[in-house]
Amino acid sequence: MSLLKRLGGAPQPNEPSTPPSAPTPPPAEAAHSTTPTEPPRPAMPASQPPVQSGFGTAASAPPAASGVITSDAGGATDQRILELSLWIVDRVQGSMGNQTELKRTAESERMLQDRFTNYYRQSGINLSDAQVKKLYEMVTDELFGFGPIEPLLRDDAVSEVMVNGPNTVYVEQRGRVSLTPIRFASDDHVLKVIDRIIRPLGRRIDRKWPMVDARLPDGSRVNAIIPPCSIDGPTITIRKFSKKKLEVTDLIRFGSMTEQMAEFLRACVVSRLNIVVSGGTGSGKTTLLNVLSNFIPEEDRIVTIEDSAELKLGQDHVVRLEAKPAEIDGTGRVSINDLVINSLRMRPERIVIGECRGGETMAMLQAMNTGHDGSLTTLHANTPRDACARMETMAMMAGMDMPLKVIREQVASAVDLIVQQTRLEDGQRKVAYVTEVQGMEGDVVVLQDIFVLDMKGKTADGKLITELRPTGTRPRFTSRLEAHGFKLPPSIFGAQVPGQGRW
Ligand SMILES: Nc1ncnc2c1ncn2[C@@H]1O[C@H](COP(=O)(O)OP(=O)(O)OP(=O)(O)O)[C@@H](O)[C@H]1O
Ligand SMILES: [Mg+2]
Repeated sequence: MSLLKRLGGAPQPNEPSTPPSAPTPPPAEAAHSTTPTEPPRPAMPASQPPVQSGFGTAASAPPAASGVITSDAGGATDQRILELSLWIVDRVQGSMGNQTELKRTAESERMLQDRFTNYYRQSGINLSDAQVKKLYEMVTDELFGFGPIEPLLRDDAVSEVMVNGPNTVYVEQRGRVSLTPIRFASDDHVLKVIDRIIRPLGRRIDRKWPMVDARLPDGSRVNAIIPPCSIDGPTITIRKFSKKKLEVTDLIRFGSMTEQMAEFLRACVVSRLNIVVSGGTGSGKTTLLNVLSNFIPEEDRIVTIEDSAELKLGQDHVVRLEAKPAEIDGTGRVSINDLVINSLRMRPERIVIGECRGGETMAMLQAMNTGHDGSLTTLHANTPRDACARMETMAMMAGMDMPLKVIREQVASAVDLIVQQTRLEDGQRKVAYVTEVQGMEGDVVVLQDIFVLDMKGKTADGKLITELRPTGTRPRFTSRLEAHGFKLPPSIFGAQVPGQGRW
């Protein structure tokens, strides 16, 4: 008989039922009993993060032990099914002894189906077929995956998952952020999922160091932060790894850049300009860096340096470096700065740094200024002018005792082009400026926009209408592009347009 048939509706009185592996009183009884009925929970290995295990009260007796969950929908019912699923999960885990991790195999699924059937019957709760199916999915998501957020991780349309404590889960889909009805049972439940994410990586999170960066097995980027630093409960942010990386043709199709702009940027990359992609959080910097890096000619030896490897380059000759967090005793950290310095001894023809956040900016500027031209990076800033100021500040973090003017000159001579990426209020991601860094005039870095994004209005459904246009200015480095064989037609740079309506 199929599982679902076995699971459908109320327990069948005539069907033989396998006794549970641990003798457990019927749940209705258990609900009123003073004797603890839980099987022993698997102990956390001492070396693991002291995230509390177990689900608190949910595990000791089945929720709604007295009867039937009637309503088809509604928060209360969902909550009770969630609690029932955790009650079953706790029992399944208890019955597994010391084996805390369950891998999805045909055998483990069969085992789970049997135990699920038993524990569901024991619970004495009657669910509709649809609810039993949902309950079973919740149990498998909990045991094989990351609990309530597992369906979001499976959904290719979801690009970001944000858990702000147990009762608030947001997602981003097609650039728009929205609240989901998904809930965790408690803070402990969220902590347990965090534990499941970081445990295989040998990472820890606790009150002493309450934050961690990690990656899911599929490459998705995860940040978790817990109390006391996260005030309203444990928080998880997952940037999902998109199986198909966006390519330049996608960005043109989405209207994130124009064909002319793409042609111009390709010429800049091939001609070994130093390019900085600037933008806010989640604006699409890494995606654009990936697109630009894929313009690097096949014959160049590329070294990529990232905090968490996200870039996916098509070239063969690529050495990928990834920073390393400190060990549990606080030693052994390898920073982006260390990797940039190390990369200089690796005969790189191109250095691609995922993101500059601090002192490594100085190492990068020095590399760019000492023959490692054609380097690419990203940083957090809202305009090209901000990006220059940010580079100065970050370069100062390197702790070298250099006057600001000297650092500013380093920025002005190292960086050739800033590409500003932005996420508009309606969720569209666009290139907002392509700006040449022309050098210094007095104490000021001279910037010249080559392309800008104009705001034209809004459609009835709230979508912003924009236009990416050339400013009519040919960059001063045009001769460098020509030396590499790029004779870009003047039309790429457009006719001179007065700077009205500039975004
Ligand atoms: N031009 C684009 N059009 C549509 N979606 C995009 C575009 N660029 C990036 N995205 C999507 O936006 C999300 C964020 O992109 P990305 O990781 O490149 O941003 P980021 O600026 O590097 O973020 P962070 O600041 O967190 O590092 C991803 O899901 C990505 O697929
Ligand atoms: Mg990024």
